[in-house]
Amino acid sequence: MSISEERLNYEKVDQELDRIQDLTQEDRRKADELAYSLYRMAIRFGTWDPLEIDLTEDKKHFAEMDKQKRDYLIHFCTGFWNAEENVALQFCPWVMVAPSTYQQAFLSTQLVEEFKHTEFFEHYFKEVIGVERENKVQNIVHDSLDPRGKQLIQAIDAGPVEREAAMVEGLVHYQGVIEGVQAMVGYDVFEAVWGQYDLLPGLKEGFKNIKRDEGRHVGFGLRMLKQFAKKPEHAERIKKIYTEYLPAMLTRYDQQVIVNGEEVETPIEVQGKDRIQNMFDRRLKDVLGQTV
Ligand SMILES: [Fe+2]
Ligand SMILES: [Fe+2]
Repeated sequence: MSISEERLNYEKVDQELDRIQDLTQEDRRKADELAYSLYRMAIRFGTWDPLEIDLTEDKKHFAEMDKQKRDYLIHFCTGFWNAEENVALQFCPWVMVAPSTYQQAFLSTQLVEEFKHTEFFEHYFKEVIGVERENKVQNIVHDSLDPRGKQLIQAIDAGPVEREAAMVEGLVHYQGVIEGVQAMVGYDVFEAVWGQYDLLPGLKEGFKNIKRDEGRHVGFGLRMLKQFAKKPEHAERIKKIYTEYLPAMLTRYDQQVIVNGEEVETPIEVQGKDRIQNMFDRRLKDVLGQTV
């Protein structure tokens, strides 16, 4: 296939992903059909290599950037690296609890992609940032992933009702909150602080690829939640878990930013709490047709 044909295909893939994530548009496919088509999309178009992205310009930009933005980048990328690594390590139960071959197949592509995203940030720190990640970045939404995973494993041997309930809760926590709100806000923050000023093209390229992968993860999660929300008991459950995590998501942007032992002022463009609140409202409206 020629390069221009391949590019055209990616354009189609991106349009399809936008459509899947836009819950105002109807999609009548059942869970297995949707999972199969996303699985095929991952096999065919999810093949980028984190080590192939050119980081030459990023090294120059990083060296020349003003101190506040450089230090904030260390904080910001530490947050992403930690999050990607943590979800990768914890994700197996989400694969196992899914009820069919192609739902598990799709979620397995997600598992390997989370490791790939982890590798991208590890590589970026080594090549561009040149220091260890910070150890003071908090993300308390992640603290309960471990018990959530254990709950999912227990539900595998329980009856179908309990298994489905656990899966719904797992989808809200992971695809709904972590990927659907926190990570999506992270991409917007990157664009606002660095991307719009044409800074860090390698990181921008990495985020473009990661966002495409995440489009499949979030698209699947949100479509599944919207289907589950037709049952009133699941709608209640979805609302409860989303709402439970809202304060923790907002706190993420309230924490003191410490880099190399010094406090860093948050760049004005970040606007993290407003972005979280807006994305949260949009997700709830999309999935449940209402805000809290
Ligand atoms: Fe990821
Ligand atoms: Fe993901």
